[in-house]
Amino acid sequence: MRILMLISLVVFLGSSNLMAQDFEYVGANKCKMCHNKPATGAQYAKWQESKHAKAMESLSATEANDPKCIKCHSTVGHVDKDLVATLKITEGVSCESCHGPGSKYFPNAIMKDKAKALANGMIEPKEAVCLKCHNSESPHFKGFNYKEYIAKIAHPTTAN
Ligand code: HEC
Ligand code: HEC
Ligand code: HEC
Ligand code: HEC
Repeated sequence: MRILMLISLVVFLGSSNLMAQDFEYVGANKCKMCHNKPATGAQYAKWQESKHAKAMESLSATEANDPKCIKCHSTVGHVDKDLVATLKITEGVSCESCHGPGSKYFPNAIMKDKAKALANGMIEPKEAVCLKCHNSESPHFKGFNYKEYIAKIAHPTTAN
């Protein structure tokens, strides 16, 4: 009985450790190599032109160091610092703010299999992800209409 409990404890600790440490933030350049082709929607270029990619440019030098501002203006500002690998604060609201930390899902063999990608940290973002930042805690909150806002940041894999 004790041995069984010990084994399950080890399994439990082992797996929570995996969850906590395995998925790291790698930055948008890692996504660019596959998601910037015009024929499949050039997601990287679309993001780069968006206010999300430029969100740090809206802040003064002082504000860019203020945790109260960067928590929404940069992915780095709202994730566990120990999990930041090659993601830079200047990337603003990057792919991984919405799609989850990419270190384990970005390799092609994982990416092309959606179930595997989801099992390796990829997130299919829903409205709740947006509402973490688009809320009245923002000093410039303009309201949030999911349908309207999602259309403004659309980056489908079909060419347009
Ligand atoms: C090695 C190439 C490669 C890299 C690097 C890559 N992807 Fe992908 N990604 C793919 C492929 C292939 C698909 C499958 C869908 C398709 O045909 O576009 C895909 C699909 C996706 C999807 C859609 C999943 C679905 O089916 O709903 C998302 C979201 C995504 N990638 C995000 C990212 C993000 C974020 C990064 C960077 C952290 C990234 N990808 C890096 C190749 C890649
Ligand atoms: C809760 C998330 C959140 C926090 C915290 C936050 N912002 Fe923002 N900020 C946003 C969002 C979202 C927008 C986009 C406006 C919108 O659509 O509501 C924005 C827009 C802005 C803009 C552009 C002005 C405009 O009218 O669009 C500036 C400048 C700005 N924020 C500065 C700051 C500063 C300075 C701080 C820290 C004191 C801060 N923000 C804290 C989420 C936040
Ligand atoms: C990590 C925080 C964060 C998340 C998550 C987030 N946003 Fe934003 N968003 C911002 C900030 C900050 C700005 C303003 C950037 C600036 O102007 O400096 C913004 C701006 C925008 C704008 C431009 C608004 C304008 O005034 O033109 C749109 C559209 C938008 N977001 C849509 C979305 C949608 C849709 C989602 C969810 C799928 C989402 N955002 C998730 C932080 C976030
Ligand atoms: C502000 C949040 C946000 C950011 C930033 C963001 N995405 Fe997305 N992405 C979404 C949402 C939401 C969807 C699903 C759209 C829908 O269902 O209409 C999506 C869908 C996708 C898809 C699937 C498109 C399809 O047609 O199935 C890919 C691929 C993708 N994103 C890649 C990226 C890459 C690469 C980046 C960075 C260069 C990025 N995204 C940045 C929120 C975001």
